Amino acid sequence: MKTTLDFLKMKESGEKITMVTAYDYPSAKAAEEAGTDMILVGDSLGMVVLGYDSTVPVTIEDMIHHAKAVRRGAPDTFVVVDMPFMTYHLSREETLRAAAKIMQESGADAVKLEGAKDVITMIEALVNCGIPVMAHLGLTPQSAGVLGGFKVQAKTAEQGKQLIADAVRCEEAGAFSIVLECIPQQITESVSEQCQIPTVGIGAGVQADGQVLVYHDLIGYGDHRVPKFVKKYTDVYPGIVAAIKNYHEEVKNKEFPAPSHSFNLKEEERISLYG
Ligand code: KIV
Ligand code: NA
Repeated sequence: MKTTLDFLKMKESGEKITMVTAYDYPSAKAAEEAGTDMILVGDSLGMVVLGYDSTVPVTIEDMIHHAKAVRRGAPDTFVVVDMPFMTYHLSREETLRAAAKIMQESGADAVKLEGAKDVITMIEALVNCGIPVMAHLGLTPQSAGVLGGFKVQAKTAEQGKQLIADAVRCEEAGAFSIVLECIPQQITESVSEQCQIPTVGIGAGVQADGQVLVYHDLIGYGDHRVPKFVKKYTDVYPGIVAAIKNYHEEVKNKEFPAPSHSFNLKEEERISLYG
């Protein structure tokens, strides 16, 4: 399994880091088999798996439940688990307890926290306790309400400078990597130059040291609209619906199950059944 040190070395050598989200055993297994460098159990699971319209309702129990399945599916891949909404803000103690619970119960390798400001001290506290932390700047979905929706961030030079300063503070606080979501690529370039730790972008351009995509977006699993920055590498949803429809019709027509899907009593048993 790769470690935080390997990710640092990958940045130094110019090798891009790949990350994909996973939420259960088969998605994690597929991600590991494909050779991705890191897996994120994102709180995006609230939207793509649980059907909420934001990540706000996701709980620690939800995250742990899914992360345990991911760990079983990808035993040899570095797994990062999102700390959900409001679990790393109220106090240092509550933050540490929440992160410890996630690490111990799910077997995660690291946690991810959104935002800068007061979150910086939480990053520092967690790293001091031995918990690797991934930071997350730019579009931070847990605060979409404050940001006024899911929109591109840091669109002015002033806001860009603020984000770059925040990234440097995350690094100083001990974060091993930073997710940059939905920002102009020029800002990504500056952050990636000014930080030693790798940036992992989503909607942040090719200048990031790595990329992350949501599993369901990458494979077209679901009928949800995908943002502009997503590339669908396949589109499995129509095939899934078609297969279930086919099954539905074959059952109605008595075409399924066929003899090949059925079991038979031996001849002598058949006779005594009716005898
Ligand atoms: O929850 C998530 O999937 C994320 C990624 C978009 C970075 O945080
Ligand atoms: Na997230």
